[in-house]
Amino acid sequence: MTSAGQIWDHRFSEKGWPTDPDPYLVELAEGQPVGRGLDLGAGPGRNSLWLAQKGWDMTLLDASRVGLDQARDAAGALGLTITTVCADLFDWRPEEASFNLVIVANIHPDQDALVAVLAGAALALRPGGHLYVVGHHVTSLGRQGPPDPDRLLTPERLRDALPTELRIEVLAIRDRRGGHGQGANAATADTVVVAWAIKPEAPGG
Ligand SMILES: C[S@@+](CC[C@H](N)C(=O)[O-])C[C@H]1O[C@@H](n2cnc3c(N)ncnc32)[C@H](O)[C@@H]1O
Repeated sequence: MTSAGQIWDHRFSEKGWPTDPDPYLVELAEGQPVGRGLDLGAGPGRNSLWLAQKGWDMTLLDASRVGLDQARDAAGALGLTITTVCADLFDWRPEEASFNLVIVANIHPDQDALVAVLAGAALALRPGGHLYVVGHHVTSLGRQGPPDPDRLLTPERLRDALPTELRIEVLAIRDRRGGHGQGANAATADTVVVAWAIKPEAPGG
């Protein structure tokens, strides 16, 4: 097990985790045709569970077995089937061109690791598929997310990390809303960065 897995196993065993889906993902995914989705660093699966309830066929990858077990239990209670993969994101080999949606929510790696994760996400996407990335903005430092400004997001950092084959449709700083991110509470004004990008269809495809 990786150290990320151990840290998050402990975190998910100790305290609950938000169950509401990311509101910006909901906004962007509403109206998309359902298909196969891949949730990288899914944790207990709040986003995947919402999508699975909408008919998406979801695969959740995470280093935390505890988080994935919580996701599987929640799916079972809802009568849903999900696929879980317990792996380290940085050793992971994507199933190429297989997913209509890839989610990277609240992972906060350093820049080199972010580039690697998004490159893998782009490989995993089918032509026409979408990538959704969300994470705490650097102005959240000391309030939300990791205590390291180099791991918090800015639109510029995300733009630099996104593979050039993806076309950006939304790249924005948004206020956090209730239920968004760890420790979310409606009284805290926090900011997140949201990116929604599409892998163009191949010419003639
Ligand atoms: C802040 S939680 C976010 C969970 C979920 N995406 C959400 O938004 O609710 C970060 C998740 O990333 C996972 N994670 C962190 N580093 C990882 C790595 N190297 N490989 C796989 N998962 C990792 C953790 O186990 C944890 O579940």
